[in-house]
Amino acid sequence: MSLKRKIQDLQKRKEQVLKGGGERAIEKQKAMGKMTARDRIIELLDEDSFQEYDLFVEHEARDFDMDKKVLHGDGVIIGTGRIYGAPICIYAQDFTVAGGSLGLMHARKITKIMDHSMKMRIPLIGINDSGGARVQEGVNSLAGYGEIFFRNTLASGVIPQLSVILGPCAGGAVYSPALTDFVFVVEKISKMFITGPEVIKTVLGEEISMEDLGGARVHSEITGNAHFYAESEAECFNQVKKLITYIPWNNTNKAKQFPPKNPKPEYKISSIVPGDPKQPYDVKDVIKSITDDSDFFEIQKLWAANIVIGFGRMDGETVGFVANQPLVLAGVLDVDSSDKSARFIRYCNAFNIPIVTLVDLPGYLPGIDQEHAGVIRHGAKVLYAYSEATVPKITVILRKAYGGGYIAMNSRHLRADFVFAWPGAEIAVMGPEGAANIIFRREIAAAEDPEEMRKQKIAEYKEKFSNPYVAAAKGYVDSVIEPAETRKFLLHAIQLSANKTVSMPQKKHGIPPF
Ligand code: HXC
Repeated sequence: MSLKRKIQDLQKRKEQVLKGGGERAIEKQKAMGKMTARDRIIELLDEDSFQEYDLFVEHEARDFDMDKKVLHGDGVIIGTGRIYGAPICIYAQDFTVAGGSLGLMHARKITKIMDHSMKMRIPLIGINDSGGARVQEGVNSLAGYGEIFFRNTLASGVIPQLSVILGPCAGGAVYSPALTDFVFVVEKISKMFITGPEVIKTVLGEEISMEDLGGARVHSEITGNAHFYAESEAECFNQVKKLITYIPWNNTNKAKQFPPKNPKPEYKISSIVPGDPKQPYDVKDVIKSITDDSDFFEIQKLWAANIVIGFGRMDGETVGFVANQPLVLAGVLDVDSSDKSARFIRYCNAFNIPIVTLVDLPGYLPGIDQEHAGVIRHGAKVLYAYSEATVPKITVILRKAYGGGYIAMNSRHLRADFVFAWPGAEIAVMGPEGAANIIFRREIAAAEDPEEMRKQKIAEYKEKFSNPYVAAAKGYVDSVIEPAETRKFLLHAIQLSANKTVSMPQKKHGIPPF
């Protein structure tokens, strides 16, 4: 055969494979409002940057008439490409081919690209759209999942791993995304669950839709399994692209530096936080008043909204923000907000991203529900995450910093590098009302007018402790600053910390309160 004929032969073979599961399956995919796997990759990556591998891989299953079935690409596309110039490895399951189900060769393709991303130390993006373990391949598909989970774990904290859920992600398949750093979901398209509606009906006799069981909203608002929620695949891809600009390629690099920009003038930092500690405000406005171009890329926006986490830039450098949100539950720490912030702190620490913490909270949420849900164990995660983090850690106490909340929110005692407090900051063991009721109980009870006495004692306690100066006098707060000076102090602290070096005790690993 001449070379020309061989090239034609190659093109014909490619054409065959590119048909995926065939026209009918593709029509069905589109009718569900979903793009095809290949279109998704093209949409997500920089133009003409995608290179595909293992196009001609075929499955080796023989049971249940599988030997008669041709599964193009074995239901998954793998390759490399770029996003805004950053190199990435990617796989996308092709639901049009046997429901994107995972058999042995399908898994080998995924693990090949995972190994590549680890070797090249570049981010890995997985697009999940699959019916789960390929039933006909039995233990071989289970083995495939195990190989993927193992690699997800080894890659954790070395390269960024992103999971985009664009279809079913059923059964044990959910554990790969759960082991990765960021999970993206899309309304009406993403479905994640361990046991599907059929099993639930059989075992429990209950009818439930896939949407109510594990749809995009469920994982964004209730379970916290998802980090980014979108209304459409196009919006979701924009979120993925934006995230890639904020994070480094691997744990030995820093995120790409952008040209510095000033915050937008409409965010006026001095007039956001009310003087009355009971009055709420949106802490995101404070974040936007200090970040470049007032840009803030929020993570897990819809879950545990009493804490806000996300990325912004300061003088072009990526910064991770952790901030109590007084608008929701007064910004308390509870089980979910502890989990949310602790994991994010660990992400920033693993990927060399300085952390800025904005504090305004009355402490941990009291109550039997929280106690029984394990607020002790979950709350401890925040202490652990801040204590072990060695990236630059800077705290600004905006208003309340009471009790365990003061310690947990990156206090000096957990080795904050810099602690600043605004003049309205109140740093105390608890709120003045509770404190006065405890320490002046007898005087209040014995007074002629107990209410008047209570007010007097509250005022006395406030005067003494509810300010930043007692903490500043001990050096727990480095500087009491005016709100308008915040960006200047933060920029200085971040720049100064560029070569921060601390040594931690040698150990295999710690035992965090998972
Ligand atoms: C083999 C599968 C498959 C699977 C789907 N298909 N899932 N083939 N193994 N797991 C095939 C279907 O037979 C069908 O083939 C094609 O894919 C499209 O599927 P449909 O059912 O027609 O699509 P749809 O109506 O959209 O329903 C999608 C679905 C459903 C909800 C995902 O297919 C489903 O419930 N599948 C089974 C899910 C599941 O229980 N998976 C195993 C989980 S256990 P044809 O030839 O008809 O087009 C698991 C263990 C892993 O994953 C443990 C790891 C630790």
